[in-house]
Amino acid sequence: MESIHNIKQKFNIIGNNYALNRALEKAIQVAPTDISVLVLGESGVGKEFIPKIIHQFSCRKHCSYITVNCGAIPEGTIDSELFGHEKGSFTGATNMRKGYFEGANGGTVFLDEVGELPLTTQVRLLRILESGEFIKVGSSKIQKTNIRIISATNLNMGKSIQKGKFREDLYYRLNTVQITVPPLRCRKNDIQLLFKKFSIDFSEKYHMPPIKLTEEAMNFLENYSWPGNIRQLKNLIEQISVVETKREISVEKLKEYIPDNIPSLSFHHSNDERFFQNFSSERDFIYKILFDIQKNLNDLKILTLQLIKNNNNANFIEKNQKIMEKVFGKMINHSNIDDSLFQLEDSSKLSSNNDLDYEEVEEDNNLSKNDSSSFSLQKKEIEFIQKALRKNSGKRKMTAKELGISERTLYRKIKQYGL
Ligand SMILES: Nc1ncnc2c1ncn2[C@@H]1O[C@H](COP(=O)(O)OP(=O)(O)O)[C@@H](O)[C@H]1O
Ligand SMILES: [Mg+2]
Repeated sequence: MESIHNIKQKFNIIGNNYALNRALEKAIQVAPTDISVLVLGESGVGKEFIPKIIHQFSCRKHCSYITVNCGAIPEGTIDSELFGHEKGSFTGATNMRKGYFEGANGGTVFLDEVGELPLTTQVRLLRILESGEFIKVGSSKIQKTNIRIISATNLNMGKSIQKGKFREDLYYRLNTVQITVPPLRCRKNDIQLLFKKFSIDFSEKYHMPPIKLTEEAMNFLENYSWPGNIRQLKNLIEQISVVETKREISVEKLKEYIPDNIPSLSFHHSNDERFFQNFSSERDFIYKILFDIQKNLNDLKILTLQLIKNNNNANFIEKNQKIMEKVFGKMINHSNIDDSLFQLEDSSKLSSNNDLDYEEVEEDNNLSKNDSSSFSLQKKEIEFIQKALRKNSGKRKMTAKELGISERTLYRKIKQYGL
């Protein structure tokens, strides 16, 4: 059997992390079979290497390997893309078209972001997995194809099944073997290796000496939370490589490239212990971040509206009506722009500091469409406040301080929720 070392060389995979090695090992083990594999992991961790390895080390390697990004194909055309269509089956279907599953006959199909597949497509996919049979859109003829399916997702599939968005029977079919690719924050020892590799790659690409980090900067890099994982690290190194003339990068320089609104989620090597002492659990901390994000979003909306208003450009509003509706949750036009601004500013003032105000956001502005998620956030907020009150023996001043909100806001919340 091919060694992991060779695989890494062949595919340019960097890292020695145990969980990563385990994932690669599993990929090699299942490669010669026809077993369906589901690859799990956050966005940017390197999931796409896994199906490629499996295909390369299977007896299908001389046939096609097709990647389908299920999240990127519109719902109206996905069946036709995957299964093909007959001539005349819908307006614009001027010719018969083979789908990916037919085209890849004998090979491997990688369904990336499989959790995004519409339910009707899931039914067709289940049939292919069970019997190799499919029917083109607009046809009644049953056809057969011989493909291996590997899929990947960064979603929590258990939740998608619970919500009725993903068929349980299909999930079990896709998930005969599961391979999980670890997030970068759990692979701290690989960060230095990845940095070296990417800085050399980009120095060659842009014909410049590779960038280097001071010890302090490397330390920062290793303890950052990397929500975008290796993709984020790679992009960061590319940006710095191109933009910075000085090739030794200090920690201050580095921080300019890392969004500081997303504090490090690393709990083991936190640079700012005091920051975390205010939070009794990881979950509380995450809710706090959610509140902060909501606040930033509100501010951003205010800024956008102010800009539009100051430029007084009717043409712009007309042209971008769709986008505005998406962002603001309602039509924005000259007659209501002032009102909308006033509402946003008002709710921003009320939810002073880091606070989130559901009522204003939902009812007055109609900004949030997802009632149930807002509701559970609200429940969390109540829980959050109660906990802080208990911890501070009901003392409002200290509770407000701990929660990062003004006393006035806390008072209003206590009244509002009847605490
Ligand atoms: N271990 C690794 N070594 C080198 N590059 C990696 C590694 N893991 C991921 N990458 C790179 O990071 C980027 C994101 O990987 P990708 O497979 O697209 O992530 P995902 O599909 O999990 O979102 C790609 O450019 C990939 O080449
Ligand atoms: Mg991907």
